[in-house]
Amino acid sequence: MNFADEIVQWYLTNKRDLPWRNTTDAYTIWLSEVILQQTRVEQGMPYFYRFLEKYPDVSSFAAAHEDDILKLWQGLGYYSRGRNMLKTARMVQETYNGNFPDSYNELIKLKGIGEYTAAAISSFAANEARAVVDGNVYRVLARYFGIDEPINSTQGKKTFQGLADDFLNKKTPGLHNQAMMEFGAMLCKPKNPACGSCPVRPGCQAFKTNTVNALPVKLKT
Ligand code: ADE
Repeated sequence: MNFADEIVQWYLTNKRDLPWRNTTDAYTIWLSEVILQQTRVEQGMPYFYRFLEKYPDVSSFAAAHEDDILKLWQGLGYYSRGRNMLKTARMVQETYNGNFPDSYNELIKLKGIGEYTAAAISSFAANEARAVVDGNVYRVLARYFGIDEPINSTQGKKTFQGLADDFLNKKTPGLHNQAMMEFGAMLCKPKNPACGSCPVRPGCQAFKTNTVNALPVKLKT
């Protein structure tokens, strides 16, 4: 098994049961991904449920008053996320008649949706072969391949995106992406990673060279 397949195997037995993983509805996945952008899963979960209950589809979200969105957003911080969501929902309502797009090339045009979110939604909702690279994936790749290029440099971003694309399982990209993120969040953690129970430790460059805690490298901005 290659490195990515090992991680998928690990995922299948160790994953958390998270509500947004049991759907292929692009709107629901969008909601979860935007909430989770700068928020931990435990903190974001109740917000996800409240939003979905009050706005079960993009049409109801698009019809909301900004005040109501921001009230529901209270406590999450980064209010621009909430405001951008409303703009996105209204754009989807107008442009796509309330059908939330699930292809990368359509998603990337929308306000507040960048490469990460477009890859996440298109791979989870439509199994489009797009590799997600979030903080978790940067860390897993940097450590396993022993890469000390800064993850926030132009060159570093290209290197990591290229590696992620190369290792993406094109048959099951949604599963692959969830697995990579979960592995980074639960096992290959920023501090105190669980190397003792890591299925890919034999091939891990950082483990071999004792640089797990030094990777990934991030430039101060
Ligand atoms: N953080 C961001 N996206 C996530 C997802 N799909 N599952 C778990 N944590 C996440």
